[in-house]
Amino acid sequence: MTESPDTLLTVKDLDVYFYTNQRCNKAVREVSFSIRRGRTLGVVGESGCGKSVTAQAIMRLLPQLARIEGGTITYHSKTEGDLRLNEIPANGKLMRELRGKELAMIFQEPMTALNPVYSIGFQIEENLQYHTAMKKQERREKSVELLRSMGIPAPEQRVKEYPHQFSGGMRQRSMIAMAMACNPLLLIADEPTTALDVTIQAQIFELIEELKKSYHTAIMLITHDMGVITELADDVIVMYMGNIVERGTVEDVLRNPAHPYTKALLESIPILGRGKNQKIEPIRGNTPDPYNRPAGCQFAPRCDFATEQCGAMPGETSISNTHGVCCWRHGEKSNA
Ligand SMILES: Nc1ncnc2c1ncn2[C@@H]1O[C@H](COP(=O)(O)OP(=O)(O)O)[C@@H](O)[C@H]1O
Ligand SMILES: [Mg+2]
Repeated sequence: MTESPDTLLTVKDLDVYFYTNQRCNKAVREVSFSIRRGRTLGVVGESGCGKSVTAQAIMRLLPQLARIEGGTITYHSKTEGDLRLNEIPANGKLMRELRGKELAMIFQEPMTALNPVYSIGFQIEENLQYHTAMKKQERREKSVELLRSMGIPAPEQRVKEYPHQFSGGMRQRSMIAMAMACNPLLLIADEPTTALDVTIQAQIFELIEELKKSYHTAIMLITHDMGVITELADDVIVMYMGNIVERGTVEDVLRNPAHPYTKALLESIPILGRGKNQKIEPIRGNTPDPYNRPAGCQFAPRCDFATEQCGAMPGETSISNTHGVCCWRHGEKSNA
């Protein structure tokens, strides 16, 4: 795919493997994509397909047992030039400066980001103290304002409370407030609203959209929900078992899905605006055991269109300038 001057981050041929009990799980394999300033890249796929691990690799926050085994992650910084994030120390000064300021992440599990022994306000303000020149009083005002904008009632009071005094939904919203505190250039949102009710979900998506508009923030939005992608993404990558199987603009992927897996994902959810009589088909079968993978196309065992050819891994085929797919059979009539 062509690189535009608007590109903020480029991931190229990324491999991330887990080593557990002498077994190797190739959780992310040869993944390449780029994220553009002011755009939302949706990353979609069933649980276990490598979405979170890809995000954690970018933030250099991988679990202990994981290794970046190959590929590059390049952050195109306006002030520092190109930075190879995969080569700089994960906990060194530079990475810590970038994390939380220019690159922020909302985690699937809020307690990953919140420390139980400090008040919510302290944690938001700590971030502001580290990354901005704000004075103590300003930091308190800012953290109260952030909590308020997240729909947390009585924020002046709540800011002094500890994570255990918050409900799951409020913890998640506090973490989002923390991530947004410094107006990051990249916000990675990993299933940001899974645990929240629909009204709050909508509020949070609105806030993310505002951040994108006001600061030209690039968003990497991870979800298993095609409905969320439909509403919020500009570009989409579809992942399956550690590989990208399809990429394109949201129109490419939703209107003309080329991979049988993408089609199956789309058929498994109701689509807004398609009326009430939609046929909802769950994807048959389960994702394979990552330690005992099929030889070629990872989706072949669940695919209605699989042939012998699918015993070998397909490369990426360009359907247009923006649309690519990894499937031997994408162009054939039987898979229309
Ligand atoms: N902390 C971990 N330890 C061992 N394996 C992990 C860990 N986190 C993720 N994995 C494995 O990596 C693969 C990708 O997982 P993940 O990126 O979390 O999927 P998802 O797309 O649901 O976010 C899965 O096979 C998962 O079991
Ligand atoms: Mg995940």
